[in-house]
Amino acid sequence: MDKQNKLFYITTPLYYVNSHPHLGHSYSTIVADIINRYKKLFNFQTYFLTGTDEHGQKIVEAAKKDGKSPEKFVDKISEEFQRMWPKLDIEYSQFIRTTNDSHKRIVQNILQKVYDKGEIYFAEYEGLYCVGCERFLDERELVDGNCPDHGTKPTLIKESNYFFKMSKYQDWLIDYINKHNEFIFPDQYRKEILSFLKEPLKDLCISRPKNRLDWGIELPFDKKYVTYVWFDALINYISALDYPDGNLFKKYWECAHHIIGKDILKAHAVYWPTMLKAIGLEPMRKLVVHGYWNNKSMKMSKSIGNVVNPLELINIFGVDGLRFLLISEMVLGKDADFRLDSFITSYNAHLANNFGNLVSRVTNFTIKNFDSRVPERGKLTDIELVLQKKIMEKVNCIKNALDSFRIHEIAKNFLEISALTNQYFDKTEPWKIAKNERQRARLGRILYVCCDIIRIMNILISPVMPNISLKLAGYLGYNSVKTEELDLNLLQSGQLMHKPDPLFPRIQ
Ligand code: MSP
Repeated sequence: MDKQNKLFYITTPLYYVNSHPHLGHSYSTIVADIINRYKKLFNFQTYFLTGTDEHGQKIVEAAKKDGKSPEKFVDKISEEFQRMWPKLDIEYSQFIRTTNDSHKRIVQNILQKVYDKGEIYFAEYEGLYCVGCERFLDERELVDGNCPDHGTKPTLIKESNYFFKMSKYQDWLIDYINKHNEFIFPDQYRKEILSFLKEPLKDLCISRPKNRLDWGIELPFDKKYVTYVWFDALINYISALDYPDGNLFKKYWECAHHIIGKDILKAHAVYWPTMLKAIGLEPMRKLVVHGYWNNKSMKMSKSIGNVVNPLELINIFGVDGLRFLLISEMVLGKDADFRLDSFITSYNAHLANNFGNLVSRVTNFTIKNFDSRVPERGKLTDIELVLQKKIMEKVNCIKNALDSFRIHEIAKNFLEISALTNQYFDKTEPWKIAKNERQRARLGRILYVCCDIIRIMNILISPVMPNISLKLAGYLGYNSVKTEELDLNLLQSGQLMHKPDPLFPRIQ
């Protein structure tokens, strides 16, 4: 396939600006960044969108608490997100804010279009509203009368509002999900949505009267109302591409992948595809849903007050170390408990003792014995060929894991490659061979094979650990990570290597 046809569009949720960026937000954004970098590595043209969700009741309440106007308050917190991402080596293409004029204009155009089609009506409504979720909850969702996510009692609200005829798309949506197995990943969330859709779907209340809440996008057909925050925010995924006429939209919409946490599954798997259908667009290509980072078994969240600041973790593990640990310590789709001590144990075992040690012993030993040059490969024997075959199997596992968004398996296979190469090094005992001048060719062969595998590992891990991989490329004698060369035996003999610093100093 030529590069023209290999297109990829990836998004994160737009984070509410009522809370400072924490580890939960960072996980979604890092996962999106890693996937985006892999796609680029494999020659896709990509577009990566993130941003902030700035309207709604929750924001107004947070601004009030902070003694600021909503305008000032959203500017301040949105900037915190924008300053956080470069520190985590996030390379997005665009940062969108739902208070941008162009976004507001596109939301209003879409509302008018759906209204003109007769898919929005006015009615009186009574329902239980959770401000934390910014949505009306169904009775059946409540646990002991409380919101299951926030543990708070929803407020009974009775008022006249505008409604989107979401219910009319229920059968279409069920059919679509059934026909597109890969639409929601992992499968447990696909099943969850299908089971939710067994009950009759209600229409979606998409307005708020200004006399109750005026911080939002005004409805184009009734100035006394603003748009419900979810109907506004979800549209970012196309307004950022300048729907309907923008080139970005024409190029990227058909390959849209949304990364989200399970808390916002319903909005993305039910509201959004039905909204798209009403607008006359195809649904996104895929929804990738991850679980929660918990702290002492409770979801890490601002309202509970148990959040972890990623910057503190960078100080301990480095950005690359943190990025690696976040994808290796959480099975995508499942919850994981954040514990600093187990992160440290993992870092020491996997990065310092396994991979870091492999790099250090192989490069130092080669530099010492071959005058800092990559040795000749010579003719490989069975033990090397068997090792290389196993390595390439793992490389393929990594490629497959990527294709199917099983992102945690990248780290697992990567560490297995490292362990296999360490075992080969131990088994062949090059430090003994080095003592015998007549065995130089054999010594060269062993070290060549190890250095070449490290080169491949470095390419494979570059999307996860961009800084480490640049350093390591330098130790092997490259001035950049040569990404196109994932085949074996491509390391140049005679290339000048450089003495390594420890990549992952042990943490006590
Ligand atoms: N503004 C909405 C999303 C609109 S998208 C059009 C929203 N914002 S949020 O700030 O609450 O962010 C929710 C997202 O942050 C989750 O879906 C998840 O991606 C991430 N996380 C927040 N806390 C998290 C954990 N404790 N664990 C993992 N991810 C979590 O909802």
